[in-house]
Amino acid sequence: MTGKFISIEGVEGAGKSTQLAFIQRYLSEQGKQLVVTREPGGTELGEQIRTLLLTPTTTGMASDTELLLMFAARAEHVEQVIKPALERDDWVLSDRFVDATFAYQGGGRGIDLQRISTLSDWTLKGLQTDVTFLFDLPVEIGQQRVLSRNEGIDRFEQEKVDFFQRIRELYLQRAQQEPNRIKVIDASKSIVEIELQLTVLLDKLLTN
Ligand code: TMP
Repeated sequence: MTGKFISIEGVEGAGKSTQLAFIQRYLSEQGKQLVVTREPGGTELGEQIRTLLLTPTTTGMASDTELLLMFAARAEHVEQVIKPALERDDWVLSDRFVDATFAYQGGGRGIDLQRISTLSDWTLKGLQTDVTFLFDLPVEIGQQRVLSRNEGIDRFEQEKVDFFQRIRELYLQRAQQEPNRIKVIDASKSIVEIELQLTVLLDKLLTN
């Protein structure tokens, strides 16, 4: 398989969408066949699960239900989209993947990380990203950005600062544990600086 699997992560308001568009453009310019997708979602069934998970009117969902729905959507996504794309030697760019579950359900909701690892081993069977770009920034700044979008907030965005603080810490902890795979990008920097850093990292991946 010559295609690479990239994911992007970060707390709300970290600017993922802007950077996703840049990565997509850059890789297309390099002639890479690229599948752009997202989690939760990326398949018909997965998008239905996404609606259940994100709609603010879904109230009182148990943390375990949330965790299992994330993995149900992911199992479908891996089988229907990610694996077939990599088998065709395409590149895959996913807006979030399994690191989000460790951060949100593990860090945010407090679910035992070992249980998440078990589900991850079961559903992914060794599949992991080649590189994950973690767009990191102080939680308060991210929240201000979300509110200033004026777009209405989803079920996760309704949570309080300390929930996102725990998520940020868990993401950074994972990045420390896996520095070769998870690249931390300071999302408070200018777009030009971020794009420059991304270009260097993507070039490395392209020549690997
Ligand atoms: P986003 O498309 O804005 O990133 O929204 C997806 C939301 O779902 C975001 O708040 C993070 C959350 N999420 C989890 O809690 N666990 C997961 O495993 C994934 C993929 C996303």
